[in-house]
Amino acid sequence: MKTGIIGAMSVETDALKSLVENAKKETVSGVEFVSGTIRGHEVVVAQCGIGKVFAAICAQTMILRYGVDRIINTGVAGTLCDELGLLDIAISTAVVEHDMDTSPLGDPVGLISGINIVNIPASAALADAIEQTAASLGKKTLRGVVASGDQFIADAAKKAYIRNTFGAVACEMEGAAIGHVCYVNGVEFAVIRCISDNADSQAGTMEYPELCRRAAKQSQELIEKFFEI
Ligand code: ADE
Repeated sequence: MKTGIIGAMSVETDALKSLVENAKKETVSGVEFVSGTIRGHEVVVAQCGIGKVFAAICAQTMILRYGVDRIINTGVAGTLCDELGLLDIAISTAVVEHDMDTSPLGDPVGLISGINIVNIPASAALADAIEQTAASLGKKTLRGVVASGDQFIADAAKKAYIRNTFGAVACEMEGAAIGHVCYVNGVEFAVIRCISDNADSQAGTMEYPELCRRAAKQSQELIEKFFEI
C-alpha cells in the first residue's frame, strides 16, 4: 500500500518530507517528489504549488509514475461553518470544484462535464482512520464537503455562496482537483485540512501567517500520527 501525500505550500509539507526514511528525491514538472517510508509505510510526499492545475499535475504524476494506491491532501483551509473553528480539522466526505460553472448551458453549478457529477466522493475508510487518529490526539474534527477553487476566499458573501450552494464545510484551492484526478483513475483519496481562517474579510489579516503556520503544523502532525497507529 503506497500513499501519496500532497500539500500546496512548503509550510504544509516540509515537516512530512523530513520524516521520510530512505528518501529518494526526483523533480518532475517542477515538483519535487520525496519517496521512501514513514514509520515503515511506503509514501511519496510532494509540495504541488497553489491551485487546482498544479494539484492535478501532482496527483496524476503520483499515480502514473509512483503507482500510489491512495492520496491524502493535507494542509490548511478556511472554515465555512460555525461547527468548524480555527485549528479544528476538516475531513472530506466529498469534494467539489466551486468555480466550475456551466450553468448557462443548463447544467447544475459545479457539474464536472464528462464525469457528470458535482460532488466527487472521498474515501470513507480513510476518513474513518483519520478521524480515529485525530481523536487520539484530542483534535476536534468535522466531516463534510470540501470546496476547492482558484480563489483565496476572504469575503463573507462568497463564503455564504459556497456554503449554501454546495453544502460545503471548508474551502481551499487543491483538494477537489486531486479528487477529480483520483476519481478518473480509480484511486482512493482524502482531504484532511486544519482550519487557518474564517474565509471572511478577516481571513487575510495580520494573524493569517501565524495561524497558517500553526494549522499546517497540526495537519502534518495528524498525518504523522496516522502512520504510527
Ligand atoms: N486556504 C486556507 N484558507 C483559505 C481560504 N480562505 N480560501 C482558499 N484557500 C484557503
